[in-house]
Amino acid sequence: MTTLKVHYHKALDFVSETEIKAYQNSINAANQALATKTGKGNDFLGWLDLPSKTEDSLLAQLEQTAKKIRETVEVFVVIGIGGSYLGAKAVIDSLSHHFAASLDKGKRKAPLIVYAGNNICADYLADLFDLLQGREYAVAVISKSGTTTEPALAFRLFKQDLEKKHGKAGAKERIIAVTDPKSGALRQLAATEGYTTFSIPPDVGGRFSVLTAVGLLPIAVAGFDIRALLNGAKAMETIGNGNADLATNPISRYVAVRNALYKKGKKIEILAAYHPRLQYIGEWWKQLYGESEGKDGKGVFPASVNFSCDLHSMGQLIQDGERNIFETVLAVAQTKQTVVVPNDPDNLDKLNFLTGKTIQEVNKQAEKGTLIAHVEGGVPNIAIEIETINEYNLGQLIYFFEKACAVSGYQIDVNPFDQPGVEAYKTNMFALLGKAGFEKLAAEIQAKL
Ligand code: PA5
Repeated sequence: MTTLKVHYHKALDFVSETEIKAYQNSINAANQALATKTGKGNDFLGWLDLPSKTEDSLLAQLEQTAKKIRETVEVFVVIGIGGSYLGAKAVIDSLSHHFAASLDKGKRKAPLIVYAGNNICADYLADLFDLLQGREYAVAVISKSGTTTEPALAFRLFKQDLEKKHGKAGAKERIIAVTDPKSGALRQLAATEGYTTFSIPPDVGGRFSVLTAVGLLPIAVAGFDIRALLNGAKAMETIGNGNADLATNPISRYVAVRNALYKKGKKIEILAAYHPRLQYIGEWWKQLYGESEGKDGKGVFPASVNFSCDLHSMGQLIQDGERNIFETVLAVAQTKQTVVVPNDPDNLDKLNFLTGKTIQEVNKQAEKGTLIAHVEGGVPNIAIEIETINEYNLGQLIYFFEKACAVSGYQIDVNPFDQPGVEAYKTNMFALLGKAGFEKLAAEIQAKL
């Protein structure tokens, strides 16, 4: 059963129902192309039926490995970049105590999850090793290609640190590799060193891989229910891959509305969340849409904001800036916990009218007030609502956005599953760093600098 709801507050005042309905045929065609694997990028459609096809034996293996890690280490380092870490971080942050990092070890029910290999910052790495000093830790190195510079570079440091502290055999006990089942440098290294490994299905690309071991292993280590996550995704898989009718399929309708808005000059979609724990859902979503749709000179620019905080910064631009944006709110009906506004006899802040209300009520009214203000300011609004933040609902949300992304990419006739544009910086960087074979390019770049 899906509980996710999509509301279109006045988005329809900016595009007509006729303009939306005009997408029905091409959405049908996109669904057909995905189902029959005949569209662009059809080698990368393994994510489509992951929720229903994931084998129980894999889940049991992931849970067992996670249990062992949970029982033996204080910190778990997830090394990966892009799709190899954003989904895990998005789900873990959404479900975790917000201040998990500051809680005493005894108060935390799971290892502290930290991330590496998603930047090339010396201070970040040095701080991380500082944190790990004197603490028992394990590492998951996650890279589908096995050759991505950032995670490979970070892993080199962690491997050496673990080997120095525990010897080769001890390090091996603390390292798990998640990579392609056969190819790539990481697969080769894992085989040579005898690491525990999990495979990323070859037909699942990085940004669509959160429901594989890429996301499931760290999520399980963090203590969350990966079966409930997959069950939520499975419920959305059933709906999403059923009848594509715009009137009944929430994915089809979201795709039609955002593309109709894009065609009318709304080139930027801002994902707005009102709960700080959801910040990385925004980061994951930006990668999913940005890397999938942004090519061939096309694509909605995905941005994200964290309200109400960003209402005091980006809120100005959204309300009054160039009218090239639409807003998609990630709404949550209920928070897990209730905090009530107390009475203050002095009432110097003049907030006693809120006495007895819950903080969530106040947040909800901020959300509604903002929605009306933004719509009236010329920003169409779509709201995607989940009941509460839990594994099942996050699973629904993940599949909703993945399927919508693929169908949406086909609306603008791009291949949503490749990323040719990310190579440009890499070749320049290799040339500048003196990698063999890049000498000519290095000379060309030097002349431009
Ligand atoms: O979506 C993608 O394919 C990319 O963002 C990758 O996830 C990212 O580049 C990391 O790649 P890899 O897992 O091969 O290290």
